[in-house]
Amino acid sequence: MMTLDELRTTIEALEGDLQQRLATINDDASIDAFRVEFLGRKGRVSQLFKRIGQLDPSDRGKAGQLLNGLKQTASAAFAEKEAEAQGARLAKQLDDEQVDMSLPGVHSKLGYLHPLTLVQREIESIFMRMGFSVATGPEMETEYYNFDALNIPVEHPARADWDTFYIDEKTLLRPHTSPVQIRVMEQTEPPVRIICPGRCYRRDTQDATHSPVFHQIELLWVEEGLSLANLKHVLEVFTEEFFGEGYEMLFSGDYFPFTEPSVQVHIKAPGASDWLEIMGAGMVDPAVLSAVGYDAERYTGFAFGLGIERMAMLKYGIDDIRVFLTNDLRFIRQF
Ligand code: DAH
Repeated sequence: MMTLDELRTTIEALEGDLQQRLATINDDASIDAFRVEFLGRKGRVSQLFKRIGQLDPSDRGKAGQLLNGLKQTASAAFAEKEAEAQGARLAKQLDDEQVDMSLPGVHSKLGYLHPLTLVQREIESIFMRMGFSVATGPEMETEYYNFDALNIPVEHPARADWDTFYIDEKTLLRPHTSPVQIRVMEQTEPPVRIICPGRCYRRDTQDATHSPVFHQIELLWVEEGLSLANLKHVLEVFTEEFFGEGYEMLFSGDYFPFTEPSVQVHIKAPGASDWLEIMGAGMVDPAVLSAVGYDAERYTGFAFGLGIERMAMLKYGIDDIRVFLTNDLRFIRQF
């Protein structure tokens, strides 16, 4: 048996313990221990509720009130501690996740253009500003566009100068960009003003100045009344834009089946003693104009073909064509 007074004393003692325990709560574990000790299913408050039956029936109502009060005190204390802990956890998380806005950002490396692409674009832009547009043609070309239409018939010894890789008897990898001239003229009436950049192939063994894969830019201007003087002017503008001011220019005689006359173009830097050969050029051979159905009596034109690698090597003083293809970033990053 238990009396109401005894219950009161027990409750007071328990409240004392409860306050003491509250004062020592300092982490999640002690909050949990508090919950188990006072509010758990087998906790001290539940144990007291079970003892209500030991009281005199007339005291049981009062006992229930007292115990409910005790339970509420314990629950409220627990809820408060739990809320405090949650606040602390959040504060800590915010603190841990703080972003320092003054730190430098994480940079990812940017790609950049290959020097040959840069040089090609620079040359394109110079001629585009002079009114030329860019045309392209296939790298896998027919014998007709690569040779016949360019006035190089079968059995002509000049075919050996453009020897290349054959896909089959009539199909080859183009050894120059000149076939693009034919393809464009077939589709267009004069005037024609184009430049044709692109990759070319030759049966060359790789060394410091040769590569079986390389790039050219072809130029073609066909209209009434054009002469070598116009060619010279276009080349002077180009040289000044691409290499700089004060260069001298020299034409020497050469032979190409698709031009008549044909010239080799040389330039000399101010103060230099050596002439540099920069391209082959000439007045488009009437046979080539006729091959595309142009009236060769009425129209004249000029053309040239230059090597992009060669232009880059001359401009930047590079003495080995192989560096363009070895993927050495120390080289490529310089441009
Ligand atoms: N196709 C010639 C070559 O690869 C270069 C060339 C010379 C192109 C004279 C031309 C030209 O258009 O008129 O060697």
